[in-house]
Amino acid sequence: MAEDQVSRREFVKMAGAAIGGLAIGAVGGYSLMPAKTTEVEVPVEVEVPAEVPEHPWTYTKIDPDAAAARAYEAYFVAGCSYAVFEGVIGELREQVGYPFTAIPTQMSVFGKGGIMGWGATCGTLTGAGMAINLVSAGATINEVMGWYTETPFPIYMPDAPVKAEGELPTSVANSPLCHASVTNWSNATGYAENDPERAERCGRLCADVAKKVAELLNAEADGTFTAAWATPDSVIECGACHGADGPVNNVFAKMDCDSCHIDPHN
Ligand code: HEC
Ligand code: HEC
Repeated sequence: MAEDQVSRREFVKMAGAAIGGLAIGAVGGYSLMPAKTTEVEVPVEVEVPAEVPEHPWTYTKIDPDAAAARAYEAYFVAGCSYAVFEGVIGELREQVGYPFTAIPTQMSVFGKGGIMGWGATCGTLTGAGMAINLVSAGATINEVMGWYTETPFPIYMPDAPVKAEGELPTSVANSPLCHASVTNWSNATGYAENDPERAERCGRLCADVAKKVAELLNAEADGTFTAAWATPDSVIECGACHGADGPVNNVFAKMDCDSCHIDPHN
C-alpha cells in the first residue's frame, strides 16, 4: 500500500533538497573538477603545414610511465579527459613533433566528469578513446573500457602528490560510468565526492589509464596485443533474449547488466 509510495515521496523530497544544496555548492564551479581549471596552456607553438596526414596517424612507442606522470599533472590543469588525452598525445608531441604539434589537446576537456559533470562515461575513457583512435583503428579501446570496469583504482603513486599524501584505498567501478566509478569509491572509502582525496584519486586514475593506453598502443605497434577482457556473463545471458539474436531484441550494450538491473523480471 501507501508505505512504499510514501517512502518514494520522501525520497523525492530528499532528492530535491539535495539538488538544492548542490546548486548552492556548485556556484563556485563544477565540483568534480580541481580548483584551477579555467585556463589550459598550449605547451608548444602550433605550426600547421598544408598537408594533414591521413588517418590513422603513425604511432611511435612512448614511455608508459612518462604518459602516466604527464596525465597526473594534467588532471589538475583541466580534468580527467584532458589528462589522459594530453598524457598520451603530449608524449607524442614531445617525442615525434609534427603532426602531434597540430593537435590542441584542450579539445578533450569536454569529457571531464562524464561529459561536463553529467556522470556519464568516465572522462579518462573519453580521453583514452580520442588518443587511441587518432593513431589506431581502435581495437584497443574495447580493452581499455573492459579493463577499467574490473580494475581496483587508483594504482599510481605520484612522486609529489597534489591533494593527498600516501596510498589511497581502492575500489572497482564495475561500470565505465563516472557516476558509478566515483560513487563506488566514495562508498568503499568513506571519502565525500568533494574531499581532496577524491580529486587525488581521480588524478591517479588518470595516470593509470594513460599508462594502460600507452602499454596497449606499444603492444599493438609490436604486434603483441591480445585482448584480455571477456564479455561479462550477464551480457551474454541477458543478451540471449534482449540482444541481436533474441526474441526481445531491444538492448545494445556491453556494460554489465547486473550493475543496474537487479532481479529485473521480479
Ligand atoms: C528468456 C528470455 C529472457 C532473458 C534471458 C532475459 N529477459 Fe528480460 N525480458 C524478457 C521478456 C520476454 C520481457 C518482457 C518484454 C516485454 O514486456 O516487452 C523482459 C523484460 C525485461 C525488463 C523490463 C522489465 C519490466 O518490468 O518492464 C528488463 C529490465 C529486463 N528484461 C532485463 C533483463 C536482464 C538484465 C536480463 C539478464 C539478467 C534479462 N532481462 C534476461 C526476456 C528475457
Ligand atoms: C548503467 C545502468 C544500466 C545498465 C548497465 C544496463 N541498463 Fe538496462 N536500462 C537502464 C535504464 C536507465 C533503463 C531505462 C529504464 C526506464 O526508463 O524505465 C534501462 C532499460 C532496460 C530495458 C527495458 C526496460 C523496460 O522497462 O522495458 C531492458 C530490457 C534492459 N534495460 C536490459 C538491459 C540489459 C540486458 C543490460 C546488459 C546488457 C542492461 N540493461 C544494462 C539502465 C541500465
